[in-house]
Parts: sequence; structure tokens; C-alpha cells
Amino acid sequence: MREVAILGVGMTRFGELWEMSLRNMFAEAALAAIDDAGVDHIDSMYVGSMSSGLFVHQEHIAAMLADYLGVAGIPSTRVESACASGGLAVRHALFEVASGASDIVLAGGVEKMTDGADATDALASAADQEYEAFHGITFPGLYAFIANAHMEKYGTTREQLADVAVKNHDHGSMNPRAQFPFKLTRETVMNSTMVAEPLRLLDCSPVTDGAAAVIVASMDVAQKMDRPIVKVIASGAATGAIAMHSRKDPTTIPAVGLAAERAFKQADLTPEKIDVAEVHDCFTIAELVVTEEMGFVELGKSGEAVSAGETRLGGRIPINTSGGLKSKGHPVGASGTAQIIEVVEQLRGDIGERQVEGARIGLTQNMGGSGASCVVHILEGVS
Ligand code: COA
Repeated sequence: MREVAILGVGMTRFGELWEMSLRNMFAEAALAAIDDAGVDHIDSMYVGSMSSGLFVHQEHIAAMLADYLGVAGIPSTRVESACASGGLAVRHALFEVASGASDIVLAGGVEKMTDGADATDALASAADQEYEAFHGITFPGLYAFIANAHMEKYGTTREQLADVAVKNHDHGSMNPRAQFPFKLTRETVMNSTMVAEPLRLLDCSPVTDGAAAVIVASMDVAQKMDRPIVKVIASGAATGAIAMHSRKDPTTIPAVGLAAERAFKQADLTPEKIDVAEVHDCFTIAELVVTEEMGFVELGKSGEAVSAGETRLGGRIPINTSGGLKSKGHPVGASGTAQIIEVVEQLRGDIGERQVEGARIGLTQNMGGSGASCVVHILEGVS
């Protein structure tokens, strides 16, 4: 397999983008990525989208978006794995370039969630219909179940959950592309509207429109361009049980552990070597569980770690410097690609006031639903 780099990145701002359609958003992100990479063509493309059919009643978007971008003729493939669609689209582009089949591939994600569709219902289609959604449970409900189990097993507190949101909104306040770039206090989070006990409004990622795209290129191509090079040194993916009742322990998400283990093995690294990470904080409890699963924090200790500031900018392992899904927003099919963009910009060293000093190796973790699919990437800044 050949070495592969992320040569260009581009994204829309995240939020309620009334003025933009799904195709406008994707084109804006894709053209920005192409421009950033400085390439004059792409060989093929991958588009991550969880549910364009339910959100805007449009399927067949891979061909539609290639045509709208003005590149009809090239192969274009849609990738769907619920909220992991954007990360998985990049993984497929990596393999296409690494195999030698193509030199320059665009990979991205897009979701238009605020155009009137019942977002809660559409999102619930990523849960098990027969065993979960049909009975009325929603994603806030599923993660509330995980939160209650974690609190009971490890003594994780309501305050510690709130501190995840406070940290991510502090980081998001430095991100001009974030949907909710305001700062929060622990008290504001703990007094916000109850959604599914113990999770409140400000424990939840929002409903968001947005798109993100990257240009994946062979190292040969990347080295010829006058651009900073960020190499992809590992891509690990895994699946697990979609229905929560099939998991032995609701405080763990096995697919996350497996995907991370595969990525660390491929990169020949341990979690201590990671300088910055973007993880899937669709709810505050999710960030706690996945940081434990990937080995950044000891099992059961993630609440203490976040409250002690270990995962803040300037802390031992800065997590979600973009603001995460919580503050930056969560346009489900685009979130995994946007995580990669944050890490690429961190490793280029030009991200401004939320820069992690000396960041050289970064990780992204993107998962679908309550964690039945997961993809982890490790990137290294080489110039
Ligand atoms: N974080 C911060 N503020 C939020 C927010 C969030 N997650 N969601 C909404 N808000 C704000 C809105 O801007 C609005 O503010 P305003 O009154 O000043 O305009 C206010 O809170 C109420 O917003 P509204 O849109 O009426 O909220 P809602 O009750 O319809 O939705 C949630 C709130 C939490 C239920 C919804 O965002 C949600 O379902 N989130 C989870 C999404 C999800 O499951 N994703 C997939 C994960 S696997």
C-alpha cells in the first residue's frame, strides 16, 4: 500500500443554514478543499450522508453532487454508516489512493437537518427499529441509559458530565465555524431543560446543517505541491451490536475499543503519543466513555479527568479543540470529516488561538448511532 496524505481541507460553517441547500453546502466545502489542495482535478469522490432521504427527501446524491460540482463522469460513491458516514467516506478514499487505483480523491460529508424533517425520527433510524426505536426510545434516551449505568458503576457525577459541555463550549468559542460558540457554566448546563434523565439540553449535540470535505492524495502527488503535508498513518474501523441490550456492559462501546486498537497497532503507537484528539461527543457521556475505550483515561476515571482539566487545551491530552459535536454542531454525515479537518489544521500549526503547541500526531474517532460502527484515524504532520 502507498503512503497517503490529506492535501486540502474545506468546510462550511455549521449551524442552521436556511440560505443553503444540501448541494450548495457540499459544493462550498468541496471547492474550498480543492482550492486548499491546489489540485486541478479529482479522480473520484466519496460522499458521507446519514439520511438525505429522510432529511430532505433526496437520494442518489453521489451522482447528483458530482454533477453539481462539475465533475460528472468520475466515479462517485455514497457512504452511509449513520453518524460515522463522514469518517468512513475518508477511509474509503484512503484505500482507493493507497491501492494505487487513484492519485487524488475527494472525500466529504453533508447533512441538511433543519429543513422541516422530524430530526428525532430520522436520527432514530440509526437505532435498531425493531428492538429500540419502535418502542419510542430516542438517541438522547439511549445515551441517558449509558450515562445512568456509568454513574451507577463508577460514581460519575452530574457535575462531571456538565464539565464536558463547559470545556467543549470554551473550545468552540474560539472556532468561527461553530454553531454554538458561546461559553457555558456548570450551573447553566445543570439547570438547562431535562431531555432524558440525567441528560439535559446542554448535554446534547444540536441539530445542524453543514458539509466538510478533504482531498486525499498519494504522497508522490502531495510532495510535488507547495502545501503542508499531513500523512494518514492509520485507519481502524469496527462494528458492534446496534441494539444496546446485546452489549454485555452498557458503560462500554466495544466497536470504539476495537477500531482504536486496530489504528494504534497500524501506527505502532500508544494513546500517550497522541497530541490532540477529536472524539464523538454527541452527548457529554459519549465523550467520557470513548476516551476510556481508547485508553486515554483509565476505565471509570474520565469524569475526574475532565473536571481536573486533563482534556482541555493546555491539559495532558486536549480533546475536541474544535468545540466537538457539542458546540461546533453535528450535521451527522459531515461530522467525521470535520473532525479530520480540525486535526489537519492542528498539525499544520495554523489554527490560531486554539492551537495545541507542538502538535505532531492527532487522532479522530467517529461513531454511528450508539456506537455500532466506529472509525478511528491517526494523522501525523510531516512538514
Ligand atoms: N446545545 C446548545 N443549545 C441548543 C442545543 C444544543 N444541543 N439545541 C438547541 N439549542 C438552543 C436553540 O438554539 C434554542 O435557543 P433559542 O431559544 O435561544 O433560540 C433553544 O436551545 C431551544 O432549541 P430547540 O431547537 O427548540 O430545541 P429542541 O428542544 O427542539 O432540541 C434537542 C433540543 C437537544 C432535543 C436536540 O438538539 C437534539 O435532539 N439533539 C440530539 C441530536 C442527536 O441525537 N444527534 C445524533 C446523536 S447520535
